[in-house]
Amino acid sequence: MTSISKSSAWKALAGHRGAFDPDSFKHELMDDPRRAEAFRVTLPGLYADYSRHLITAETLALLIRLAEAAGFERLRAELFEGAALNNTEGRAALHTLLRADPKDAPAGLNEQAAQVAASFDRMKSFTQQARSGAYTDVVAIGIGGSHLGPELAVEALAPLKGQMLRVHFLSNVDPMLVARLLAGLNPKRTLALVTSKTFTTQETLANAKAVRAWLASALGEAAMSERFAAVTAAPEKAREFGIAAERVFDFWDWVGGRYSLWSAVGLPIALAHGFDVFRALLTGAARMDRHFREAPLDRNLPVVLGLLGVWYANFWQAASRAVIPYRQDLRLLVPYLQQLEMESLGKSTRRGGETVDYATGPVVWGDTGTNGQHAFFQLLHQGTGFVPVDFIAVLEDGSGNRVQRDMLLANCFAQAEALLRGRSPEEARLAAGGEALAPHKSFPGNRPSTLLLLDRLDAESLGMLIALYEHRTFVQSCIWDINPFDQMGVELGKQLADKVLQALGAGGTAELHDAATRAAVEKARRG
Ligand code: F6P
Repeated sequence: MTSISKSSAWKALAGHRGAFDPDSFKHELMDDPRRAEAFRVTLPGLYADYSRHLITAETLALLIRLAEAAGFERLRAELFEGAALNNTEGRAALHTLLRADPKDAPAGLNEQAAQVAASFDRMKSFTQQARSGAYTDVVAIGIGGSHLGPELAVEALAPLKGQMLRVHFLSNVDPMLVARLLAGLNPKRTLALVTSKTFTTQETLANAKAVRAWLASALGEAAMSERFAAVTAAPEKAREFGIAAERVFDFWDWVGGRYSLWSAVGLPIALAHGFDVFRALLTGAARMDRHFREAPLDRNLPVVLGLLGVWYANFWQAASRAVIPYRQDLRLLVPYLQQLEMESLGKSTRRGGETVDYATGPVVWGDTGTNGQHAFFQLLHQGTGFVPVDFIAVLEDGSGNRVQRDMLLANCFAQAEALLRGRSPEEARLAAGGEALAPHKSFPGNRPSTLLLLDRLDAESLGMLIALYEHRTFVQSCIWDINPFDQMGVELGKQLADKVLQALGAGGTAELHDAATRAAVEKARRG
């Protein structure tokens, strides 16, 4: 297949970009209420404003033409129908089925829908049992997709006061992390939950063994089957580890790791906040799925945001995008999105094996507002790079502190305005009180941003938000003709880590490694 960059739609966008001067329609960008209305989507609980982007109605029409040229609508249908869109591994990516109403499951997916329903029944009764008082703490062991989504949701949805079960996450293989966590827990009241699709991940198995040794030394080997549960696509390996079959939950091949929090991988969420909260997360995601399938492309939020990602990456050379949640409880959204987007879109090879001749996934980075304002916003406003921003804010919180809520929102809205507005030389001269500092105080603005405003941060709105980002990622993968569901680039590092580990051990040798690795291994062996 010919590269999308050779399509007439792409060429039309390149021409459009060449003639694009945001200053010429700055007034419209800043002040035209019709623009604010036209470039906004409202869904129950979510207000999304993309009017601060460097686009006109023509830009959007051209981007939609590009989506059509890439066969986007066919690919979207195939995603929901369970086609093997993960073509390099010959698998479907059916995260949408996990949150679909079983009666809406596409024909041909009834078997998978029944497996999901049965798994949820098991999750529900396990959750009720675990929350009935036997445990006070859960250690959730897993990494990457088997960690980031659940931790994000557990933290974002934490009630103001006390939790029935405290869920702690153990992901990094750093021995200090295990030591610190276990030092504060009572083995008699702790449940260990190992989540690993493959059940071969080095970090997860090492942490699981450390927790197991700690529990066994306090309670004896016989108690282990009561203390462990697992979520995995390799149940035989979990059983070999010593976990009773009735405490092993399914993780199917047709669910990708970073798209899996809607499956039993979300068990930590149910354990922390109850099964109903987990269900509500699915309800919110299903709402976004419906919108993604049904809304016309020019009013379809994941489509528009995905196409904006393409517009900036390919026609404005934006190498990164910042995500700034103005809500501390969403602190973990950034690392979650880093895996979702960068593991999905960090590819240089097209579906058919050809090398891409255009930029693909940008770096995703950020931190909460207002903290980021006092750290890296200087670069966003005046740096030489061009960084589009996602601002996320929440209207209602349960704090009862209206003054600080308003401060948080005011900062969020003001930063978005300042990025677009900039400061003219004239304004800078006035602000600086003379010529000398005026160049330092002036900047052109024209830095685009999206505002996502949630009515409240609850399970439904979080589900919607995460599903929005999943689909946005998918849209970009369609345009770039890449498989967003594999991650083959991480394999070499894992294989080398196993070899380096052997080299570090007694009798090991680093001879087969490069010179820098050999030197580092020698130093580590001495240290
Ligand atoms: O190293 C990347 C990765 O394969 C992720 O894609 C995955 O989510 C993570 O490792 C953990 O894998 P597993 O669930 O098999 O332990």
